[in-house]
Amino acid sequence: MNTKVDFSDIKGQVALVTGSGQGIGKAIAEKLAAHGAHIVISDVNPETARKTADEIAGMGVETLSAACDVSSKEQVDNMFQKILEKWGKLDILVNNAGITMDGLFIRMKEEQWQKVLSVNLFGVFLCSQAASNIMRKVRKGTIISISSIAAHGNPGQANYSASKAGVIGLSNTLARELAPLGIRSNAIAPGFIRTPMTDKIPEKHRERILAGIPLARPGEPEDVANAVLFLASDLASYITGHVLDVNGGITGL
Ligand SMILES: NC(=O)c1ccc[n+]([C@@H]2O[C@H](COP(=O)([O-])OP(=O)(O)OC[C@H]3O[C@@H](n4cnc5c(N)ncnc54)[C@H](O)[C@@H]3O)[C@@H](O)[C@H]2O)c1
Repeated sequence: MNTKVDFSDIKGQVALVTGSGQGIGKAIAEKLAAHGAHIVISDVNPETARKTADEIAGMGVETLSAACDVSSKEQVDNMFQKILEKWGKLDILVNNAGITMDGLFIRMKEEQWQKVLSVNLFGVFLCSQAASNIMRKVRKGTIISISSIAAHGNPGQANYSASKAGVIGLSNTLARELAPLGIRSNAIAPGFIRTPMTDKIPEKHRERILAGIPLARPGEPEDVANAVLFLASDLASYITGHVLDVNGGITGL
């Protein structure tokens, strides 16, 4: 029996990964590039976007570095324009850009709510709509949106949790609406992954989370990237409207 997993269909595809200057997004970009995809490194931080794009270009694929705030329609439209000018297509969209602005609900400022919802959820709306309008013309494409285990609720993260639950609802709806157009939509819900985002969590809180992980280790960005590779590939061609947990077995933070 041939047990070799084949991701050769990824070669030559064009993938946009939002928020890919660092952390999970960067690992996703590297993973898809390692399988031959051309990559749009997009980040609100132009320096990390450029640096990551340079590194990935060294892997022998084509890259485009795009400074883009996903919550700005104008910037998203500009980025998609550049993608079309360079390649004339987009095969894979990974909605990864996300932020936290934690605080107890009772004291949460409107600005904390609006900012997190606009990056984490409105950004997914804008990028998914722009991508779908390209993909539907060729009746082929896949959208993968990064949600979180926090979608189930997490004290101090009312804004983040609501945004990530919203991502799941949006992703599942896209799966149903876009299936007739040849576009698949899935979400990934990571647990505790070691990145600059989780480095901000106070040591004591971090130790408590780690102690509750059945697989007894924090997740690595590559663990999420492996799930993206699978969902983006033809091996997942019959999977849409799914939420894939990548969390070492934890049931809550
Ligand atoms: N790290 C975890 O444990 C964890 C767990 C569950 C879900 N997630 C999700 O995974 C995704 C990546 O998280 P990470 O841990 O790599 O975070 P990170 O903070 O290390 O990286 C996020 C990236 O997104 C970029 N970004 C921020 N705002 C942006 C905007 N408006 N437009 C475009 N880019 C923007 C940042 O500049 C950064 O490069 C996020 O959606 C996050 O919510 C992370």
